[in-house]
Amino acid sequence: MDNILTTIVAMSSITGILAFLLSIANKTIANYGEKKLTINEDKELTVDGGDSLLSTLIENEIFIPSACGGKGSCGYCKVKVLDGGGQFLATEKGYVSEEEREKGVRLSCQCKVKEDMRIAIPEELFNVKQYLCTVTEIENLTDKIKRIRLELPEGSELDYKPGQYVQILTPVYKESDEEVYRAYSITTPPSSKNAVELFIGYIPEGICTTYIHKYLKEGDKLNVIGPFGDFQYIHSDKEMILAAIGTGMSPIMSILRHMKENNINRKVTFFFGARTRPDMYMMDILQELEKEMDNFTLITCLSRPTESCSWRGEVGRVTNLIEKFVENGDNKEAYLCGNPPMIDSVVKILLDKGFKEEDILYDKFE
Ligand code: FES
Repeated sequence: MDNILTTIVAMSSITGILAFLLSIANKTIANYGEKKLTINEDKELTVDGGDSLLSTLIENEIFIPSACGGKGSCGYCKVKVLDGGGQFLATEKGYVSEEEREKGVRLSCQCKVKEDMRIAIPEELFNVKQYLCTVTEIENLTDKIKRIRLELPEGSELDYKPGQYVQILTPVYKESDEEVYRAYSITTPPSSKNAVELFIGYIPEGICTTYIHKYLKEGDKLNVIGPFGDFQYIHSDKEMILAAIGTGMSPIMSILRHMKENNINRKVTFFFGARTRPDMYMMDILQELEKEMDNFTLITCLSRPTESCSWRGEVGRVTNLIEKFVENGDNKEAYLCGNPPMIDSVVKILLDKGFKEEDILYDKFE
């Protein structure tokens, strides 16, 4: 017994000493001092070294997209590093292609500012700002999807394009002790500059969705950063194919509302899929748009209709709708939003039907 106790005491002491040495090392070795960060060759910042490039940029109010809170698991935070940044890490491999790597692309949450650095970022990121918004409306659209309306502080305006997204900074709350950023597409048209609406689906154990579904109340404040995203409506006269499942309807809604407001009369068909009737939402708004827009057609399907759905429409997945109703890719453009398997399947079908790769735009969400 005495031996066991002696071993436990000895191990605890060693662990304690190691932890102490590590904390000393962090305070001394990790002190890199001030570093010079040059952005797009014309903006020079003096920053404290040692932190990740992503955090350093946020610290200086330059917001790079990030959906995983800097954990290296979303691949959103890519930045071109022209000088500095250290070795390419194994954690970046899954998100940065060989071709991108050769051009210096890195995950900014993974590389640290330990030396002077030169980086290049898209100019539009200088327009991304953080707003402390007020939650003015919360509505249950289905039992798993909520609509929230966020009003910007008085005098502020969000200048965005149909299809873009914002990031919500989820605060620390009862079920999470870390602040995390999560990305949500804007559902309102760009004319709504002082307030934006988002559809937020509940993901079990999702930090942000749990906060929004279980804790957020009207009148609360939320930090919102944006706008972000290359998935944007393109002005052209091509026929449009829109396809979405679940909350993938969000950017599509912004696109359709923008088209309606601006009397854009392109031929457009929206294919929307849900599991059961109660999972269909915003149908009244979409049917209203269908009446008001001469060239807009809505086609829906249910993948698992039950008897209580009393469903007489299409049964199957969005992919089945595309197979059935889209004839070819001649002078057509597609906008897709959904989970990766759905996007991958729809892209394949569209390519087989003769769509050009550059005419297929998509926004994949996890
Ligand atoms: S922030 Fe998600 S991978 Fe860098």
